Amino acid sequence: MKQSIKPSYTLHKNFRLPMGFSPENFDSGFTYQAQARDTFIVTYPKCGTTWTQHIVWMLSHDGKPLPLDKNINLEVPHLEEVGSDFVKSLSEPRFIKTHLTYDLNPYNPDSKYIYIARNPFDCAVSFYYHTQGFIKHYDFAEGTFDDFFECFINGEVDCGDYFDNLLSWVQHKNDQNVLFLTYESMKNNPKINIIAIAKFLGDNYVEKVQNTQILESILHHTSFTSMSQNQSRWSSQRPPNMTPFIRKGKVGDWKSHFSVSQTQRLSQKLRMRTAGTEAENLWQIPE
Ligand code: A3P
Repeated sequence: MKQSIKPSYTLHKNFRLPMGFSPENFDSGFTYQAQARDTFIVTYPKCGTTWTQHIVWMLSHDGKPLPLDKNINLEVPHLEEVGSDFVKSLSEPRFIKTHLTYDLNPYNPDSKYIYIARNPFDCAVSFYYHTQGFIKHYDFAEGTFDDFFECFINGEVDCGDYFDNLLSWVQHKNDQNVLFLTYESMKNNPKINIIAIAKFLGDNYVEKVQNTQILESILHHTSFTSMSQNQSRWSSQRPPNMTPFIRKGKVGDWKSHFSVSQTQRLSQKLRMRTAGTEAENLWQIPE
């Protein structure tokens, strides 16, 4: 039988960090004091973070797309990756990406939090290709989906357990400073969701989307087709033989990756972990 392979991580306290990520920056991220004008884009990895980062960037730049010589992660930085000082160096209002659970995320009652959830099946597949492709961070180029699935379902991946993250935020989905969206709803109706984000951010942003040209520009430049172009804007480089960072952008891609038994196991976990919570009806659970 083929031996299973696991991604490599830097173990730091109770966390797995991608190799090469700085534990000092990670620790410093927790010391960041959330400011009243901050908006956090919070996700479990692979649930639509970059897409949402680009939407908020365009909303705050009059509908202009991120130029080719910029990287979104310097504009809307990942707190745990860059640390507190980098984020503090940005002018306000700040947009900040995190993958933290509600309790660990810097909190200010006047800050805003946009949480994007994605069904765990597609998330697992997307996270697999992410982990396989960033060779220097995970040394998992030869890893199979079956290998990764075991790590994912046991929460033994960077950013921790999918369900811990989702359940921590879904309890706050109706808080006045939380906007809770799903990847599937964004795919189904991007316009409604872009407008919802603008409304949540406030009147200045509503004015932007009332301008048809700006709204159409945001819709166009944040579409999957458009974001698939010039991908150096979204992440560090991946080897050319690996899948691109903006990969498929589909709902239901999991069906061509999961075995019957994997489907049953993740469905059972989803059912058990979400029973009686606000998350239980977010997605139809496969049999
Ligand atoms: P897939 O791997 O399923 O294609 P994150 O930014 O949180 O890492 O999420 C990455 C996932 O979001 C990838 O999913 C990526 O293709 C998808 N994605 C990125 N931009 C998108 C867009 N504009 N529209 C739809 N999906 C997008």
